[in-house]
Amino acid sequence: MNTSKNVLILGANGFIGSSLCWAILNRTNWNLTAFDMADGKIQHCLGRDRFVFKKGDVTKDTDWIEAQIEKSDVVLPLVAIATPALYVKDPIRVYNLDYESNVSVIKMCVKHKKRIIFPSTSEVYGMCQDSSFDEYSSNLTLGPIPKERWIYSCIKQLLDRLIWAYGAHEGLDFTLVRPFNFIGPKLDDVKNPKEGSSRVLTQFIHNIINGKSIKLVDGGKARRSFTFIDDAMDCLLKIIENKNGCASGQIFNIGNPYMDFSIKQLAEMLVELVATYPGYAEAAKNVKIEDVSSKDYYGEGYQDVAYRIPSIKHAEELLGWKPKTDLKTALKLTLDYHLAGKDYELESARA
Ligand code: UGA
Repeated sequence: MNTSKNVLILGANGFIGSSLCWAILNRTNWNLTAFDMADGKIQHCLGRDRFVFKKGDVTKDTDWIEAQIEKSDVVLPLVAIATPALYVKDPIRVYNLDYESNVSVIKMCVKHKKRIIFPSTSEVYGMCQDSSFDEYSSNLTLGPIPKERWIYSCIKQLLDRLIWAYGAHEGLDFTLVRPFNFIGPKLDDVKNPKEGSSRVLTQFIHNIINGKSIKLVDGGKARRSFTFIDDAMDCLLKIIENKNGCASGQIFNIGNPYMDFSIKQLAEMLVELVATYPGYAEAAKNVKIEDVSSKDYYGEGYQDVAYRIPSIKHAEELLGWKPKTDLKTALKLTLDYHLAGKDYELESARA
């Protein structure tokens, strides 16, 4: 990863953004410019060589953003609301941020002929019936309009199609990446996940350690393929590196098809693991697991994805990438961070 590059990350303080900043600073010699409205998750990057951070609002600081795009080699617009409860509660906010702010960045990349790596989503496959979801052959199956959950998926799909069209007709150099349930220490805020407004892993950890019951939506039968953030970073670094143009004009699922578990299994595994941390064993022993209907938990506008297994043959063949981390290890590293004050990222950087 030693060819010099100027990378621009918008939304650097999110889960993927903050992990990517750290990976770039520790594993490459690339220059990194990062932008976000907050900096809590990138504290350990601030002040590092090759790192410039600006705090701001992506909807207002458009002149600054355009000037940075002009100076960069590759742009990652990671700003988005990505929690299902908000798709249902505030779809207009999701539209304004996820669509409007990103479409303007995409157009700037076209104007200045800059490479863009766009975070699509596993959600674009929706309720696809294939046994595993393929970037080039699977249908993208969404529910009816009153099921507002799909606004996020639909926005990302339209942006995918727009980027693809700019690539095919106006020469935009792009890669579309589809994260499949990335998990890890900095996913959401465990201390304050706001019931129903955080992704499932963070919500469950919070509930266990605070004596609240775990709520299994529709019995927790939905399945997800969980991907540890470091495996995902290995893949993203290869995509940014783009050796011999291997990622240009491509779509990649980034996921772990071997870690397909039901939400109920996830809950049970977590309770068992939390019980092994001194100080939390009692809480884990007393936790109640309750069933709740999706209508009561999220509201009428919700519809679930029954299962979501990525095909990763494309990433294996073109990038030589494969995920390595099993779910138990991923959960332990996440719990070590929240319950034992151990940050494996900092520890490995010091070693
Ligand atoms: C997520 C989000 O849409 C995005 O972050 C992202 O694009 C995508 O998945 C991804 O990471 O690939 P989803 O997997 O449905 O969607 O998000 P979660 O909130 O983590 O929910 C997973 C499952 O757990 C759902 O079946 C949900 O109903 C269930 N759940 C959630 C519970 O049973 N209990 C809870 O307290 C919370």
